[in-house]
Amino acid sequence: MGLFKKKIKQEHKVMLQHDRAAGALLPEYHRPTPECPHPEQWSMLDSMTAELEVLEFLATLVTTIKPRLVVETGSFLGVSTEWIARGLQRNGFGKVISCEYDPIVYEKAKARLQGSPLAPWIELRNESSLEMHVEGTIDLFFSDSDMPIREAEVKRFLPQINPTGIILMHDASSHLKLVREAALKMEAENLLSVVLLPTPRGLVIAQPRANRH
Ligand SMILES: C[S@@+](CC[C@H](N)C(=O)[O-])C[C@H]1O[C@@H](n2cnc3c(N)ncnc32)[C@H](O)[C@@H]1O
Repeated sequence: MGLFKKKIKQEHKVMLQHDRAAGALLPEYHRPTPECPHPEQWSMLDSMTAELEVLEFLATLVTTIKPRLVVETGSFLGVSTEWIARGLQRNGFGKVISCEYDPIVYEKAKARLQGSPLAPWIELRNESSLEMHVEGTIDLFFSDSDMPIREAEVKRFLPQINPTGIILMHDASSHLKLVREAALKMEAENLLSVVLLPTPRGLVIAQPRANRH
């Protein structure tokens, strides 16, 4: 072994933390923001997986708008994918395609989901959101990959998103900045109508502006 230990990738570190926590909930520890001064009132499994309340919201949104096709970018361990699938299972139709770029994380998510009763609703792909091809109209798009590429991935999939569909962009709080700015920029470009939910990590709910009536 050399003098310097190889720096362990953040995703892999949090993956190990997730295993050690074994499903125990923690108070959300992202820092307070003007729009969300009490993040500790929210819960989380780990710092990569969306806040528990956001996971619950995903399932409820799926039962509310009844999407045929959901696309998620950034599966991580597939926890948010499962919550989306839970909604689809209740609806009795639809599927979620979720992509994870990192092959180690992808294998872990695949192993977690194998044998799950929710697996029939899920298509997990080891691909980048910037390269993945999806057939058909997307009714719900959940953007939760790497923050600097969120604008590019939303723009890439926008032509395929149903005009009555919903786009969610996670990590859009004022302290994380990048995603919030990307969403507001796309609104200024007349591409999206945007609502900023005041959650600990921030959540954008948006709809394409084109073809609205
Ligand atoms: C915040 S985590 C996703 C959390 C997950 N959606 C959840 O709430 O359970 C972001 C994930 O996106 C992955 N990622 C980063 N760049 C990506 C890309 N271009 N395409 C797909 N996945 C990507 C990372 O490896 C990481 O696992």
